[in-house]
Amino acid sequence: MRLGSWFKWTFLLAFLAVFLVPGVYAAQGYPNLSKTKELVIKRGYSKEALQCIECHAKKTPGIVEDWKNSRMAHAGVSCYDCHVVPKSSPMASQCEGVRGTNIYTSPMVSPKTCARCHPTEVEQFEKSAHSRLASAPVVEKKKFQVLMYHLEGGEFMGIPKGDPRTTATRRSGCQMCHGGKVELGPDKKPVKGTWPGGIGHRYPDGGIGNCTVCHNRHRFSIAEARKPEACGKCHLGPDHPNIEIYYESSHGQRFLTEGEEWNWEAAPDAWEPGDYTAPTCATCHMSGIGELSTTHNVTERLKWDLVHAKSVIRSGERGNGERGRKLMKKVCLNCHSSLHVETHFKKLDDVVALYNTYIENVQKMLADLKAKGLLKKDKWKDPIQELYYYLWHHTGRRARHGAAMDGPDYAHWHGFFQIFQIYKDIEDLYNYRIKHGKIEELSPVMSTGPL
Ligand code: HEC
Ligand code: HEC
Ligand code: HEC
Ligand code: HEC
Ligand code: HEC
Ligand code: HEC
Ligand code: HEC
Ligand code: HEC
Repeated sequence: MRLGSWFKWTFLLAFLAVFLVPGVYAAQGYPNLSKTKELVIKRGYSKEALQCIECHAKKTPGIVEDWKNSRMAHAGVSCYDCHVVPKSSPMASQCEGVRGTNIYTSPMVSPKTCARCHPTEVEQFEKSAHSRLASAPVVEKKKFQVLMYHLEGGEFMGIPKGDPRTTATRRSGCQMCHGGKVELGPDKKPVKGTWPGGIGHRYPDGGIGNCTVCHNRHRFSIAEARKPEACGKCHLGPDHPNIEIYYESSHGQRFLTEGEEWNWEAAPDAWEPGDYTAPTCATCHMSGIGELSTTHNVTERLKWDLVHAKSVIRSGERGNGERGRKLMKKVCLNCHSSLHVETHFKKLDDVVALYNTYIENVQKMLADLKAKGLLKKDKWKDPIQELYYYLWHHTGRRARHGAAMDGPDYAHWHGFFQIFQIYKDIEDLYNYRIKHGKIEELSPVMSTGPL
C-alpha cells in the first residue's frame, strides 16, 4: 500500500474508532448495549453481519475475540465480508446458524476474497513461488505422488490404495507447508482432510494461496508477519534451516537480544531502520525499505536458484536473477557500506561455484554408472543414489543458504564439511562399481544418511 492510501485507511480507522469500536469492544454484551451504540453499530454493520458476530461470540468466542483486536475489525471488515459467498459459488454451504436462510457461507477463504480489497498484494503473491509453484509438488508432480502415497504412505508395505493411512503423510506434512487442493463433498464442505492447507493451497473458486500462514487468522497482523517466526514455521529443518541460520546470524543475534524493543507496528512502506536495527526475513525478502516498496513476491529479490540440485541464475517463472541481486543489494545498502555488501555477495557467488563443482562431478559419476547399468532401479535402496539426494537436498542447501544469510555453522559444519564427507563416500562406491563391474552387496552407508 502506498503511503497515501495508508493515510486514507488510517483516517478511516480513526473515524471508525470513535464511532464504532466502543460498540465492537462491548460485543460480549450486545443485547445490553445502549441505544446510541446499537444505532452506531448498525450503521457500521448490516443486520446480517451483526448476527454472525453475535452468535459466534457465544459459539466460537476465541475467533471473535481475536478478530476484534485486528485492524480489519477496527475498519469495519467482518465475518460477513470474508465468509459469505453467493449461492452460485462452488464453495457455498451453510453454517449451522444460517441454515434455511438465503445466506451462504464458506469456511474456505481464498486470496480471491482478499483481492477484492487488497488487489496489489494478491497480484504480487501470485507471481511468487509461494503461490502455484509451492503446491505443484503436492498436486501436479507425479514423482512426489509416488513419494507421498506409495512410499511414505505405506503402499509399498501392502497398505491398500485409498486407505486413509496412505494420505496421512501428505495431510500432516507436505500439505500443511506447501498446500494441496481442496476437494468438496456433496454439501460443498471440504472432505478427506484436503483443507486447511499451506502457503499454495488451491481453492474451488480458483484462488491459489493462503494468506493466513504469515498473517494468522483472525488477527491478520503485519507485526506478526514481520517477525522471523512467521516464516520459521515452514523454513526450518534439515533441508532448509532458514530460521536456524537466521538465529545464528548477526542479524538474528540483534533480533534475539533487542527485538522486543523494535517498532513492529509501523505502517507498511514506512517500516525503516530505526524502527529496527537489524533485518528480519521480511525486511530482506518482502518489506519496503529505503527506495524499495513492499512486495508480496518473495521470488523478486533472489539471484540464484538455491533449491535444486544444481544452482543456476533465475529466469522465467523462477524470477529474474540479475535484477533480483540488484534489489537485494539495495536492502543491505541501507545499513552497510558497498564494500561490505560486495564482499558478502562475492563470497556467496564463490560458494555457489564450489558447490556446483561438487554436484557436477557427482552427476558425471552417476551418469557413467547409469550407462553401464550399475544403478539400482529403486533409488531408496541404492546407497549411491541416496547419498546423492542428501548431498544436494540437505547438506548442499544448508551450505548455500548458510552462505547467503550469514550462518557460518550451516555453511561449514552442516554444509561443506558434510558435502565433502558424502562426496568421498560416493567416490568410493563409484570406484568399487567400476572396478568390479557390479553393485556392492553390503553397503557401509546408513540409510538415514547425514542429518
Ligand atoms: C479478513 C477476512 C476474514 C474475516 C473478517 C473473518 N474471517 Fe474467518 N477465516 C478467514 C480465513 C482466511 C480463514 C482460513 C480459511 C482457509 O484456510 O481456507 C478463516 C477461517 C475461519 C473458520 C474456520 C477455521 C476454524 O478455526 O474453525 C471459522 C469458523 C471462521 N473463520 C469464522 C469467522 C468468524 C466468526 C468471523 C467474524 C468474527 C470471521 N471468521 C472473520 C478470513 C476471515
Ligand atoms: C445462530 C448462531 C449462528 C449464526 C447467526 C452464524 N453462525 Fe456460523 N456457525 C455457528 C455454529 C454453531 C457453527 C458450527 C461450529 C462447530 O462446528 O463447532 C458455525 C460455523 C461457522 C463456520 C465454519 C464452517 C461451517 O460451515 O461449519 C463459518 C465459516 C461460519 N460459521 C460463518 C458464519 C457467518 C459468516 C455468519 C453470518 C452470515 C454466521 N456464521 C452466522 C453458529 C452461527
Ligand atoms: C472488504 C474489504 C477487505 C477484505 C475482503 C479484506 N481486507 Fe484486509 N484490510 C481491509 C481494510 C479496510 C484494512 C485496514 C487498513 C488500515 O487499517 O489501515 C485491511 C488491513 C489488512 C492488513 C493489515 C493489518 C495490519 O496489521 O496493519 C492485512 C494483513 C490484511 N488486511 C489482510 C487481509 C487478508 C489476508 C484478507 C483475506 C483473507 C483480507 N485482508 C480481506 C479491507 C479488507
Ligand atoms: C516444514 C514445511 C515443509 C514440509 C513438511 C515439506 N516441505 Fe517441501 N519445501 C518447504 C520449503 C520451505 C521449501 C523451499 C526451500 C527453498 O526455497 O530453498 C520446500 C521446497 C520443496 C520443493 C522444491 C520446490 C520447487 O519449486 O521445485 C519440493 C519439490 C518439495 N519441497 C516437495 C515436498 C514434498 C513432496 C513434501 C512432502 C513429502 C514436502 N516438500 C514437505 C517446506 C516444506
Ligand atoms: C510470506 C508471508 C506473507 C504472506 C503469505 C502474505 N503476507 Fe501480507 N505481509 C507480509 C509482510 C511481512 C508484510 C509487511 C510488509 C512491510 O513490512 O512493509 C505484509 C503486509 C500486508 C499488508 C499491509 C501492507 C500493504 O502493503 O498494504 C496487507 C494488506 C497484506 N499483507 C495482505 C496480504 C494478503 C491479501 C495475502 C495473501 C495473498 C498476504 N498478505 C500474504 C507477509 C505475508
Ligand atoms: C506455510 C509455509 C510457509 C511459510 C509460513 C513461509 N514460506 Fe516461504 N516457502 C514455502 C514453500 C513451500 C516454498 C517453496 C516454493 C517453491 O519453490 O515451490 C517457499 C519458498 C520461499 C522462498 C524462495 C522463493 C523462490 O522463488 O524459490 C523464499 C525467499 C521464501 N519462501 C521466503 C519466505 C519468507 C520471508 C517468509 C516469512 C515472511 C516465508 N517464506 C513464509 C513455504 C512457506
Ligand atoms: C540479510 C538479509 C536476509 C535475511 C535476514 C534473510 N534472508 Fe533469506 N536470503 C537472503 C539472500 C541474500 C539470499 C540469496 C539470494 C540470492 O540468490 O542471491 C537468500 C536466500 C533465501 C532462500 C533461498 C531461496 C532459494 O533459492 O532456495 C530462502 C528460502 C530464504 N532466503 C528464506 C529466508 C527466511 C525464511 C529468512 C528468515 C528466517 C531469511 N531468508 C532471512 C537474504 C536474507
Ligand atoms: C537494518 C540494518 C541492516 C540491514 C538492512 C542489513 N544488515 Fe547486515 N548487519 C546489520 C547489523 C546491525 C549487523 C551487526 C554488525 C556487528 O557485528 O556489529 C550486521 C551484520 C552483518 C553481517 C555479519 C558480518 C559483520 O559485519 O559482522 C553480514 C554478513 C551482513 N550483515 C550482511 C548483510 C546483507 C548481505 C544484507 C542485505 C541482504 C544486510 N546485511 C542487511 C544491519 C543490517
